[in-house]
Amino acid sequence: MKSIEKTAIEEISKSQTQEELERVRLKYLWKKGIITEKLSGLSKLPLPEKKTVGREINIVKKNITDAIEKHSSEIKKKNILSNIYKNVIDTTLPGKPFDFVKLHPLTQIMNEVKNIFVNLGFNIATGPEIETDYYNFTALNIPKDHPSRDMQDTFYVEIKNDALLKLKIKNEELLLRTHTSPVQVRVMEKQKPPIRIIAPGKVYRHESVDASHSFVFHQVEGLAVDEDITFADLKAVLEIFVKKMFGINVLSRFRPSYFPFTEPSAEVDIQCVICKGNGCSVCKQSGWVELLGCGMVNPKVFERVGYDTKKCTGYAFGIGIERVAMLKLGIDNMRLFYENDMEFLRQF
Ligand code: PHE
Repeated sequence: MKSIEKTAIEEISKSQTQEELERVRLKYLWKKGIITEKLSGLSKLPLPEKKTVGREINIVKKNITDAIEKHSSEIKKKNILSNIYKNVIDTTLPGKPFDFVKLHPLTQIMNEVKNIFVNLGFNIATGPEIETDYYNFTALNIPKDHPSRDMQDTFYVEIKNDALLKLKIKNEELLLRTHTSPVQVRVMEKQKPPIRIIAPGKVYRHESVDASHSFVFHQVEGLAVDEDITFADLKAVLEIFVKKMFGINVLSRFRPSYFPFTEPSAEVDIQCVICKGNGCSVCKQSGWVELLGCGMVNPKVFERVGYDTKKCTGYAFGIGIERVAMLKLGIDNMRLFYENDMEFLRQF
């Protein structure tokens, strides 16, 4: 038995690869291998001998098994080292650098918009993304069943929580805000005029996703309330915004529109920056693209928050950030902002 062990150990240590080692294992330990045959041959021996020889064979079997295992891990180690030497892994190279950290293009544009208004004296206000029907619609002069609610269909939220009961809010009244305008009401409830705020944030609508629509997008709301605020102030502030954002030569126009919470209302278009006003697919050949909604705050909104409608006037606006970003960065598909494709994002 000892000589079998000796040759086996020699063969094991001579094996260069896992395949060679496996061949040795089979030769000795397989069903028909040398050691296994010896073990099955035991049955022919008389009992006392069976025991001693059996013990002897089992020791040899264990030694061979251990030697194979040890040699196998040595081969593995050697393989790793030889890969390194073959320069498959060059440990002398410096590590892969992290990508230079940049903000998402939408965040960059959002920050630009915020800076413009902060420099004009506006403060930043925030409000919840899960809003109540009251702030999102009713307080903004959009009563239940008003047709203008259809333009801003949204996601209704159900929260199973005793906290709601304490706040006396019913689940039917909770929704994801469809615009940042509810922040106007929240600010006015807490603060007396003069007010000059912007409210940046995410808004949600029940929309199918396409090149210019998404179920979640960003807006920056603006609100100014004081004693002598006029439409001229609104025009001035928004014209400054357009020129700072898109360039001094970009023209803008105010087009009459309708929002229940402003009266009169307007939409601001800018000359298409893609075709410079000549007409292209982005501006639908008109030379103009819609940028934001605005108007003078409807006195009905002031009444809700207990402001003196004889003294107060104000203006409000809501800017779509994706729209601004697409025009400013020359992007014709809104979906690109949300796909997290690094090749796309890295360009900005
Ligand atoms: N909230 C309006 C919208 O999302 C935009 C708007 C804001 C219009 C403020 C007027 C005043 O469509």
